[in-house]
Amino acid sequence: MTGRVTGKVVIVTGGGSGIGRATATVLAGEGATVVVTDINRNGGLETVQRIGGRARFVEQDTSKEEDWQRVVADVMDKHGRLDGLVNNAGIMGRYPARFENETLEEWRRMLSINVEGVFLGCKHAVPAMRSGGGGSIVNLSSLAAFVGTPELPSYGASKGAVRQFTKTVAIDCARKRYNIRCNSIHPGVIDTPMAGEMMTTEKGRARATAWVPMGVLGKPEDIAYGVLYLISDESRFVTGSELVIDGGMAAI
Ligand SMILES: NC(=O)c1ccc[n+]([C@@H]2O[C@H](COP(=O)([O-])OP(=O)(O)OC[C@H]3O[C@@H](n4cnc5c(N)ncnc54)[C@H](O)[C@@H]3O)[C@@H](O)[C@H]2O)c1
Repeated sequence: MTGRVTGKVVIVTGGGSGIGRATATVLAGEGATVVVTDINRNGGLETVQRIGGRARFVEQDTSKEEDWQRVVADVMDKHGRLDGLVNNAGIMGRYPARFENETLEEWRRMLSINVEGVFLGCKHAVPAMRSGGGGSIVNLSSLAAFVGTPELPSYGASKGAVRQFTKTVAIDCARKRYNIRCNSIHPGVIDTPMAGEMMTTEKGRARATAWVPMGVLGKPEDIAYGVLYLISDESRFVTGSELVIDGGMAAI
């Protein structure tokens, strides 16, 4: 079979649910070998079982540096190369929250998973990718990176940091001629367990749907196909860019 990412070895963090699961499935379907990682063992194993071949699960807490060292070493040991990294694992935190009553503990937990996890992923993936001649990193940011998010203060701050850091990695790798690209994806409201925390009632769901000019919620696959493009060689000239996938929300 020849697919759009045939022969590539790709790590997808947070692959045990939602966007990560759909991304792992789409990448494997297009010929990649996918290493699904998640802090949730059962979710990760279920993703791998659903894919049924060309995927395996490694347990990982993306906020821990020793976990990144172990995961990347394991991938190099078993596959001999690393071509793609999808920094997808993330949390949304308490909803609705307000910065005036957010605790420092909540704030730090958010940044430790959503920002430090992405930093560590880039830091440890780049040397492995270089040894194979290059690669592509995709960081899951959010529409929250572009606007104020009064009901999700630390989440918005974390996604703004991911958007900016993506460009730092992209430019540094480009100037050093590493042949490693780094781009961010900015989903709108995607129907996953995470977004479900904002839509616990029918009224809440209708309210979230009404935010979207196209009048429907996104599906995890809508994001997965964007990741597929950025991991594939079709996007060989794309780095430091922001791919918005949101049914039109950012356009108004
Ligand atoms: N769903 C949306 O509307 C939406 C919108 C914008 C951005 N995003 C982003 O997309 C990404 C995926 O979101 P989703 O909606 O699929 O969420 P989800 O909650 O369905 O899945 C997230 C996965 O990440 C895992 N995870 C959490 N903390 C982890 C850690 N420390 N180490 C490893 N794994 C960890 C969870 O166990 C879970 O399996 C997140 O970064 C999220 O912020 C989602």
